[in-house]
Amino acid sequence: ETFDATGLHILPGAIDVHVHFRDPGYTHKEDFESGTAAAAFGGVTTVFDMPNTIPTVADGETLKVKHAIAASKAHVDYGLYAVLGEDTIDKVPELIEAGIIGFKCYMGNTFGRIPTPSTGAMLEAFEMVAPTGKRISLHAETNSVMERRQKRLTESGRTDPLAHLASRPAVVAVEAVARAAILAEWTGARIHILHISSAAELGPLRDAKARGVDITGETCPHYLMLGEADYARCRGIIRVNPPVRESVNNEPLWAGLLDGTIDMIATDHAPHTPEEKTRADIWSVDCGFPGVETQMPLMLTEVAAGRYDIRDYVRWSAVNPAKVWGLYPKKGAILPGADADLAFVDLDHAWTLRDADLQSRSKISPWDGRKVVGLPRHTMVRGRFVMKDRALVADTKGHGRSVHAIQQMPEARPLHTDETLSAVTADRPEVAA
Ligand code: DOR
Ligand code: ZN
Ligand code: ZN
Repeated sequence: ETFDATGLHILPGAIDVHVHFRDPGYTHKEDFESGTAAAAFGGVTTVFDMPNTIPTVADGETLKVKHAIAASKAHVDYGLYAVLGEDTIDKVPELIEAGIIGFKCYMGNTFGRIPTPSTGAMLEAFEMVAPTGKRISLHAETNSVMERRQKRLTESGRTDPLAHLASRPAVVAVEAVARAAILAEWTGARIHILHISSAAELGPLRDAKARGVDITGETCPHYLMLGEADYARCRGIIRVNPPVRESVNNEPLWAGLLDGTIDMIATDHAPHTPEEKTRADIWSVDCGFPGVETQMPLMLTEVAAGRYDIRDYVRWSAVNPAKVWGLYPKKGAILPGADADLAFVDLDHAWTLRDADLQSRSKISPWDGRKVVGLPRHTMVRGRFVMKDRALVADTKGHGRSVHAIQQMPEARPLHTDETLSAVTADRPEVAA
């Protein structure tokens, strides 16, 4: 087998820790085959799939069914998330047994209507998961705050796309990040903040890191590169949870990535059909859009523009995700691509993103017509090409494997225990009194 890599750079394949491949339950939007084909075209060699499929992945049996589906259809490697909810805490052992990459906790409503746990249930769930070492990824938005807003906006007749942004002000996320970090601090649970959308969330994230909490964060290209002006251009297509915010947030988010407050880039790849994205009433438009195959070109465009180095990008796209989820090779290897999960990219190739060209079943996104520099030309998963010369390689459906099997998460420890607390109060009688 020969191939031409003249003029190409070889990068570790990206690990996208946040995708919704909709299988089973919503395969008219996406399935494991189309989703992982999209990943392959995007230079992405591993994806972590979210549990808001039908039925919700919250018990061992459901997870086993999803594993069988993924194993038979995936072109690239994957991990599967399971939900940590109000009444499913006792399912933690069987979910770990059946093979998960981590837990997902929905603090706020979004697609799939998964009930959000109370703070009390979260505390118990965090206590349950902490000793297992598994990381809990959070959709950090506080339901009660945004639901009051949305109710008022709908009652007042607001139906323009910007009403969606107004319904979820940054405080909805800031409060949730801070609360989750406190629970992590007191239980020793490892947590990951999904889709950081605002400059304001960087405060509680930075504070928690400084306190020694094992907390990480991701942002997505749309929060870095889009702003309020894009609502008029995209209308409902841009609707996503959390919302794309005012463009004043873009630069602080870039700075947060560069200074290490934000650890990685993920996409929240959330496909819906064109029909579901263009409904007249903004409140009935499904949230999210595809992103797994456009992340690398969008982010490499900023390398070409000189905003950061290719090594920065690789740290955000592959090295940090691998370290944070225990997929980093132990011996001898220096990069996550060491088992030949590779993206062969043309860093100088200027081209235009077109929704019609997407591999995703959902051919509608805010990126249509966007000029980019940087093209994944071939993609290799564990030594085998799955995408070559911008075409899917035959017979690679089913090549993908679940990476939970190679995951190593060390045991986690709480920063506070009852002993340390009583030691503090014994030392300071005025506090004890
Ligand atoms: O916009 C979103 N879409 N945000 C989420 O958190 C879920 C996702 C989906 O599944 O459609
Ligand atoms: Zn989310
Ligand atoms: Zn999501």
